[in-house]
Amino acid sequence: MKKNILNILSLISISLLIVGNVQAQNWTIDPELKDAQLKIAYDEASIDAGKSVYDKNCKACHLEISAEENNSRAAGAAPNLGNKEFNKGNTDGEIFCKLSHGNGSSMPPYEAMLSEDDRWKVIAYMRSFCESYEGPKADDGAAAVVAEKFEGEISKLDLSFDKDSKVITVQLEGKDSSGNKVVPKNVKVSVFVKRAFGQLPLCADKKTDDKGQITTELGDVPTDTAGFITLIASVNGGKTTAEANVQVNEGYTWVNPLDGTHLWATRDKTPLWLMIMYFGGTLLVLGVIGWSVLQLFRIWNLRER
Ligand code: HEC
Repeated sequence: MKKNILNILSLISISLLIVGNVQAQNWTIDPELKDAQLKIAYDEASIDAGKSVYDKNCKACHLEISAEENNSRAAGAAPNLGNKEFNKGNTDGEIFCKLSHGNGSSMPPYEAMLSEDDRWKVIAYMRSFCESYEGPKADDGAAAVVAEKFEGEISKLDLSFDKDSKVITVQLEGKDSSGNKVVPKNVKVSVFVKRAFGQLPLCADKKTDDKGQITTELGDVPTDTAGFITLIASVNGGKTTAEANVQVNEGYTWVNPLDGTHLWATRDKTPLWLMIMYFGGTLLVLGVIGWSVLQLFRIWNLRER
């Protein structure tokens, strides 16, 4: 009997192991990223930054990376990400998806923990162990994400709101050091709603596009009675800000609850039956209290005697 139970238990654990192994192969590759190339420049700066991301987040499981032909780590353990078989067998985009989504079990998803920029950097670091890899250089178009940083000065910050689509647009204008107008691209903008206590963030550090603007949607935010809210846009961590008081809806009129049919507010609106019941009830209660006091008084009198 005991032997039987042991047999069943080991059968269950073996099947669990098999299921676990099947699950471990669960990588999701987004079709639009399948053939994507590194979206940052493949240079010293990216690789160095990638190493520090790796040391903080991945090294605990993946250990020190080293260049080798095939992954030499035990089956099921985190692989050596410097092995050539892995580096040649995966596009940048595929690796990006693998580390963004994880595999649903042993490899965690990093989508929420690491910025997109950091995820590309850590890929640049892995690639640096594979000599045959050729990534985009700083002067390639693909490297525009980090290469183009706006150096000028923000001269104007415009906040507008479209009531129908509920879209907030922040338009920046800038000038360079000699005073010429330039479009401020890749500038980080945050948008808040001003509240009585503090500010409610709507979007944080969104980068401006080629026109120097960002858009963000306004969700369900309570307004004042006239339907207005105050929006705040802030650039460069608060160095330049703009405020706009915009109308979100038609507002609402406050209805005084005392205006309805209520016993306590306007007696003339109270139905007669309610008044009779109320006063009748009150008299009854007072009567009971009075009667009780009377009885107590009589008991007191009895004791006196
Ligand atoms: C909790 C441990 C753990 C951490 C932390 C971790 N990984 Fe993994 N990772 C694994 C395991 C285990 C696998 C192998 C999964 C498999 O092959 O089924 C894996 C697989 C991978 C793969 C796929 C390899 C291949 O052969 O396709 C990549 C890419 C990867 N990890 C990158 C990273 C990066 C980058 C980080 C840090 C940001 C990281 N991992 C952090 C455990 C971890």
